[in-house]
Amino acid sequence: MGDIAAATRLDGGFVDGLMAVDAPIGRARGLPNAAYTDRDVVALEQRRLWRRGWACVGFASDVPRAGDARPVELGGAPLLLLRAKTGEVRVFHNVCRHRGMKLAAEPTRFANVIRCPYHSWCYDHGGELIIAPHVGGPGCNLHPDLDKGELGLVTVRSAVWWDFVFVDLDGEAPAFADWIAPLARRWAGFDVARFRPPHPEEGTFTLELAANWKLAVENYAEAYHLPWVHPGLNSYSRLEDHDNIVEEGAFSGQLTRAYQPALDAAGRRFPGFEGLDPFWTSGAEYVALYPNLLLGVHADHGFGILLQPDGVARTTEHVRLYYVDAAAERGDLAELRRRSRDLWREVFAEDVAVVEGMQAGRASPAFDGGRFSPAMDPPTHAFHRWVAGRLLAP
Ligand code: FES
Ligand SMILES: [Fe+2]
Repeated sequence: MGDIAAATRLDGGFVDGLMAVDAPIGRARGLPNAAYTDRDVVALEQRRLWRRGWACVGFASDVPRAGDARPVELGGAPLLLLRAKTGEVRVFHNVCRHRGMKLAAEPTRFANVIRCPYHSWCYDHGGELIIAPHVGGPGCNLHPDLDKGELGLVTVRSAVWWDFVFVDLDGEAPAFADWIAPLARRWAGFDVARFRPPHPEEGTFTLELAANWKLAVENYAEAYHLPWVHPGLNSYSRLEDHDNIVEEGAFSGQLTRAYQPALDAAGRRFPGFEGLDPFWTSGAEYVALYPNLLLGVHADHGFGILLQPDGVARTTEHVRLYYVDAAAERGDLAELRRRSRDLWREVFAEDVAVVEGMQAGRASPAFDGGRFSPAMDPPTHAFHRWVAGRLLAP
């Protein structure tokens, strides 16, 4: 605890505030204001939250062809996603072993080698340094002091599930399969690999929030605000149709038993997964997988929202929709996919004002972290406990 004060300008009040989260929900307080407003907390989160444990950094479908590469960032660390010739997605630290040049600043294609733009050191898709031109002087690509075998790109431990690329920056997290197991078990009836992204125009959009990333998680995880913030959604999926989902330390959110949007007048739906439990005929689940991936699952489609923090009070939401197998491409479903995209964009846009309003409220010295509804807010409390636990762990 004391080490937080030693490592930052944050005082004991911040630590007390974090500790007040970990009480029975009826008495607990929410995360203190500084967790949303203080640059030192951003730095603390980089060290203790983003660079420890699994977090989502991107989408495998963003690098569809061998050699496709995309720079991403996590916890302030520049990373590079690459679709290797072997077909798998690899993640490297996006930095050359020579003079530390960032290898790619934009999405690009490294068809054969990853070539550094500065002095052209070239790495293969496995990250091995294969040539360092003139490193031994003009015309000589070898030098006895430099062992190419020791100068490969630094690989980041990574895994792909559904379409989401996860990394474990410090390499100390449990095996990915164990980490994802609680959610994979919950959705065991879904072969998530069959969720396919449609054409980007039909299934991709971004939203910018003037708010800390955690407020986006908290708002997503609760159904409590539905009647007032989402009147359209609430017209068929009412508060009483919802239940909380809480898997302590892993994810939290909500489910509805009444998902039935009218995408078109004829009531058409997308072809979906077969053989699911009857719940899914009109059921849906929405969970925030800690820290930064918001997921929605229905029998016929799913979505993922990757939260990308930018400083204290800016967040980008990268939204991707998915359909089952050929439903992602069939021409006769294109109009329906566009309506589905527009419907979700409208719903997520409805949340922006309240998320930004909570951020604005965090400037108030009168706010003490707030209190939770023991009935409606267990998903939010579970997330706060997880965050507080991460920030307090030295
Ligand atoms: S910094 Fe990459 S080749 Fe020199
Ligand atoms: Fe909402």
